[in-house]
Formats: sequence, structure tokens, C-alpha cells
Amino acid sequence: MEIVRVENLKKIYGDDENEVRALNGVSFSVEKGDFVAITGSSGSGKSTLLHLMGLVDTPTSGKVFINGEDVYTKKEDELAIYRRRQIGLIYQFYNLIPTLSVQENMTLPVLMDRGTINKERMNELLEQLGLTDRRKHLPNQLSGGQQQRVSIGRALINSPALVLADEPTGNLDTKNSREVVELLKYANQKYGQTIVMITHDEDIALQANRIITIRDGKIASDSRIREVGHGVSNRAKAVEENSNFAEKNERSGKEKTDEIADKSNGVKFSTGKSVESVDKNREFVEKIEKNENTDKESK
Ligand SMILES: Nc1ncnc2c1ncn2[C@@H]1O[C@H](COP(=O)(O)OP(=O)(O)OP(=O)(O)O)[C@@H](O)[C@H]1O
Ligand SMILES: [Mg+2]
Repeated sequence: MEIVRVENLKKIYGDDENEVRALNGVSFSVEKGDFVAITGSSGSGKSTLLHLMGLVDTPTSGKVFINGEDVYTKKEDELAIYRRRQIGLIYQFYNLIPTLSVQENMTLPVLMDRGTINKERMNELLEQLGLTDRRKHLPNQLSGGQQQRVSIGRALINSPALVLADEPTGNLDTKNSREVVELLKYANQKYGQTIVMITHDEDIALQANRIITIRDGKIASDSRIREVGHGVSNRAKAVEENSNFAEKNERSGKEKTDEIADKSNGVKFSTGKSVESVDKNREFVEKIEKNENTDKESK
């Protein structure tokens, strides 16, 4: 079953002599539960493609379907909610909010939605990410590898069916890179989450099931190394559980936080301080979500 399909996707920046055809007609689909690596030289259009799949940019032409839905027909605010609940984005430069703790950064997509935090899920993630004893720390009190793990936690907190990672190991040493890839593999194999990961590193690309290479805004090669669901003990079950998660996110988002607060086994931050500081920083947070600051410096 396919989770994402892009059709003749084009992205043109600037006009006349400044025109850059970042993506020049890309079509492919990704199967549910797959782990796909995207490679290609600098400037080939990888990040542009990922941002379009992650709904943080808009195509010049072409379509993106997620779970069969033509996503760019949605309104801006619907897109933001859809993205927050269904897609997990991980960037090379982490994009954490400096004034929020590890735990608050990780639960940001839930706080932004005024949703209820599933404490069990949060603790499980903190444990898997090796951040349990760092939960109250601020980003600047963490190593690069730990900061990247927080951003992975933030991408996974809503258990999104689709996880998109833009060079998640780009800033890390070999040991931390390996750990980050292991975490993504774990999300893929244990929870059946679909992963699309950009990488420059051939060894890391070879950990995926399928490698797509982009050149000059087009697909230059597309090869399958392993079956979809490689390493997943019970793939059908994992994928099914994962779709339930996604459905649950959709449902709980529709209800009011107050209404679900006592019905669910989730907890709200007791002081409300986190929500307040998220609100205060909302504009900033939205920019961070859309990767509108740090990543641009690298272009
Ligand atoms: N906002 C923008 N305005 C103008 N041109 C842009 C913009 N963003 C990207 N580009 C151009 O589009 C092309 C593709 O950029 P993209 O960031 O997708 O490349 P990439 O494959 O991710 O490269 P890298 O490996 O260096 O991250 C590049 O030529 C880049 O200069
Ligand atoms: Mg890039």
C-alpha cells in the first residue's frame, strides 16, 4: 500500500535570469512501512523535495498525495494541522527552541495543538532516546547528538505514519550518526513507520531498503536493496497499529483538549507554563516548524 505519491513535481525559484529549477518533474511513490534514502550532490534538489513532501513549502506545479489525499488542495491552516499530526520532520540543525526544556521541545507538536500529552509514550521515547535524565535540560546544555535525539523525539511524539529526515546525521560524528540511524530503523521496524531520509553518506544510505538518487532536480536512479518491511517481525501488525495511532491523532485533534483531558489517560503539564511559553513563542515556533531560519544559512 502506498503512503506517499508525488506526481511530476516541479519547484522553480526566482524568475528570468535568476530562475532556478530546483525540482524539474519528479514522480515516484513510497510504500507504507518502507525505509527510503535520498541521495545526490549538493544543490540537486533533495531538501526541496523533502520539504514538499513534508508540506512546509508549496510546489510550483505537480501534486503530492499522502494516504491518497491530494494535500496541496488543503487550506494553509489545515495543512499545518495535518503536518503536525501525520508527519514527523527531522532537520540537520535540530531546530530546537532554546528556551524550552528537552521534554517541552519534544512535546511541542502536541502543545501547539493544545492536545494532551500521552505520558506513557513520552517516557518510552525519552528512554529509547537515552534522554530520561536530561528531560529538564535546555538545548544548550546538551551535546549535538543529544539535541538531534530530542528533535527525533519531537518528530515521533505523535507517532506519525510518515517520518521525513533531512540529513539527520549531517552534523554528527560516526558513533552518534550510527545511533541516530538505529533509532530511525527501530521506528521503522518496531512501529512500521515509513521513513524517508536524505543523506550524503553512502554507508548510511545502504542501511535503507531503497535508494533514490536525485540529479539536477530529477530522479537519476532508484534501486531497491531490501524488501519493504525488512527486519519487521510482524509488519502487517506494526503498520496497522501505526495507522491506529494516526487515526487517534486525527480524532483527538478534532475534540477539544478540555473534553478529552479527563477521558484520556494522557496528562497535561500541571502548571500550564509550557503551553503559555509555547503561545508566547508561537510565531517563532511556527517558523522553526517550517524550518524558516537555521537551515537557510546552509544554502
Ligand atoms: N529559497 C530559495 N531561493 C532560491 N533558490 C533556492 C532556494 N532554496 C533552494 N534553492 C536552490 O534550489 C536548488 C536545490 O536546493 P536544495 O536545497 O533542494 O538542494 P539539496 O540537494 O538539498 O542540497 P544540499 O545537499 O546542499 O543540502 C539549489 O540550486 C538551491 O540553490
Ligand atoms: Mg539539503
